Amino acid sequence: MQDKVVLITGGAGGIGQATAKLFLDQGAKVVLVDINESSLEKAMQSLTSNPENVAIIQADVTNESDVKNYVQETVSHFGRIDVFFNNAGINGPVAEITDLEKDAFEQIMSINVTGVFLGLKHVLAQMKEQGHGRIINTASNAAYIGSAGMVGYIASKHAVAGITKTAALEAAPAGIRVNAVAPAAIDTQMLADIQNNLTPGEPEKSGEAIKQGIPVGRFGTPEEVAQIVRFLASDEASFVHGALYNVDGGMQAD
Ligand SMILES: NC(=O)c1ccc[n+]([C@@H]2O[C@H](COP(=O)([O-])OP(=O)(O)OC[C@H]3O[C@@H](n4cnc5c(N)ncnc54)[C@H](O)[C@@H]3O)[C@@H](O)[C@H]2O)c1
Repeated sequence: MQDKVVLITGGAGGIGQATAKLFLDQGAKVVLVDINESSLEKAMQSLTSNPENVAIIQADVTNESDVKNYVQETVSHFGRIDVFFNNAGINGPVAEITDLEKDAFEQIMSINVTGVFLGLKHVLAQMKEQGHGRIINTASNAAYIGSAGMVGYIASKHAVAGITKTAALEAAPAGIRVNAVAPAAIDTQMLADIQNNLTPGEPEKSGEAIKQGIPVGRFGTPEEVAQIVRFLASDEASFVHGALYNVDGGMQAD
């Protein structure tokens, strides 16, 4: 990954930051994009090993002019985009279909689906111009299953799977690879929020229940997801197009 330019959305979050650290440790230049400016500043401070190799850009992935801007800024700062980790996402409230507000459903779809689409639209155009690139979208175990109380998230991650396969077919003739990582139960703020939603004030209670449904009996770490993203971005994955890679402690096998 030496000198590769890696663009990460949701870069201030758990999986985004762990991935940024791994790529930086391997000599890459990393641009973190996130809606949360203070988290971006904190992330920048924690990635101290090579500060000259890190840039941060505040952007809302649902806003097309923000997306155009993060692509242009990355190219003007580091010259190109070799790897795009299209990762920003939210879970949204836990509520059954009959109780979920339309606005809440649309917000999840907007960030998790439109945000992924817009990132692909503008980064793929840049990569086609360059003649190379690797893209990894963040899907989820939720791309394969249903889950009561999670309709927006489930629908959005099924959509990410479809978008990934379609983008892979459109990009392959240009030598660009598009794949997805499909994590489950990774120990980040998102999982903490889900636990608090399920059992308010007693997150460890729902945490234990979730762990019982994971064959390995524990949560995954953001670093374990980062390793698969690194693999998919590397030449080792040169014949891998349109795939979803599970990082889920065996949940899909169950
Ligand atoms: N943690 C898990 O168990 C898990 C499992 C499967 C998939 N995922 C997926 O992994 C990805 C990263 O999640 P995480 O676990 O690191 O959670 P996280 O909450 O730590 O990180 C998500 C980041 O996305 C950012 N974000 C939210 N809306 C945005 C917007 N409109 N524009 C730009 N940035 C925005 C947030 O500010 C946050 O920093 C998400 O797509 C999530 O759906 C997570």
